[in-house]
Amino acid sequence: MSKQRADGLSDSRFVRACLCQPVDRTPVWFLRQAGRYMPEYMAVRRNHSLLEICRTPDVAAEVTITAAERLDVDAAIIFADLLLPFTPMGLDFEFVNGEGPVVHQPIRTREQVEALRTDRADELNYVARAIEQVAKHFAPARPDGDRLGIIGFIGAPFTLASYMIEGGSSRNYVEMKKLMYSDRTAWSMLMDKLNTVLAAYAAQQVQAGADVIQIFDSWAGALSVQDYRDFVLPFTTELVQRVKALGVPVIYFGVDTASLLSTMRETGADVLGLDWRVPLEEGWRLAGEGVAVQGNLDPIALFAPEDLLKQRVQQVLTAAGNRNGHIFNLGHGIVPGTPVDAVINVSKWVKELSAR
Ligand code: CP3
Repeated sequence: MSKQRADGLSDSRFVRACLCQPVDRTPVWFLRQAGRYMPEYMAVRRNHSLLEICRTPDVAAEVTITAAERLDVDAAIIFADLLLPFTPMGLDFEFVNGEGPVVHQPIRTREQVEALRTDRADELNYVARAIEQVAKHFAPARPDGDRLGIIGFIGAPFTLASYMIEGGSSRNYVEMKKLMYSDRTAWSMLMDKLNTVLAAYAAQQVQAGADVIQIFDSWAGALSVQDYRDFVLPFTTELVQRVKALGVPVIYFGVDTASLLSTMRETGADVLGLDWRVPLEEGWRLAGEGVAVQGNLDPIALFAPEDLLKQRVQQVLTAAGNRNGHIFNLGHGIVPGTPVDAVINVSKWVKELSAR
């Protein structure tokens, strides 16, 4: 957990920004900063499957540290995956090359929900072991006096339920919405079971040294405001509150959420992640006073010529106007094929252009 300076504030500018406290410049990190666009990651990936990397603390820590140092960012997100909790819950899945995650027997009935286990979250503690190594590595202050922040993460119950029910990525989420609309008892049981495991898993990560927990609700944008409010908000609020009670700030992120931001705010999250479709100023206005925001450069802008990319970075910073509570990031993850130099440049420009 975050160490304090003499003034009682965190020694990490990233953590201070999460809490809307003063910073000397805007902190920066990137969603999916360790991934297939990076040759160092691909070198590790040649010898290990994705799940092997996640489940081997030395390797997960190495991948996490390498990416954060190569990009010279202000936070390191632990290398793991959203779907890891499926295994101790009793749901088999694998990553199929080029297809993403595949759940072999997707959840479609109340009986299947009843069979999911919530008593084995301890089996996920390989992630906490990796966080311990990363936190130890980044414990000393950097040359500028700042301590790099450590981000743990979990999926939101809705997005994980979507994967469990659809069995993989989906376009229209027909199976998920069918179950959600037709069997409220099964839906609630599924969301509650996920929350039980996710809260325990987040606690392991905080105990191991995570300064902040990011909750990924990547597919929340598939919902109308009414459905989000009826079927998702109460459960997500419960999870956000349980994680905040661990003593760390919570970042709540989703994609295509412009219509949902003011409702997502009701979860009580400290920071809302903005995707790139919403202008940052507009997103922050919708999120409301007193909440921090993270975002929101289009990840595909990293393929643009240097002058245009720099202009886009400046535009995000101008929209944030050096107000306390902005964390620079992309509106979603870095995609394979992204030029590493472009990411390094953005990291450098954010520092130069945002100095107070
Ligand atoms: O630095 C980092 O951010 C990497 C750590 C990380 C991974 N997954 C590793 C990974 C994080 C934060 C995630 C979260 C995650 N996993 C999300 C939420 C973030 C988002 O993008 O909205 C989601 C939806 C998943 C589920 C998942 N995992 C999918 C849909 C895929 C396939 C997509 C693809 O790009 O192929 C994965 C695989 C995955 N997880 C990869 C990585 C680096 C790429 C595959 C690989 O290395 O084999």
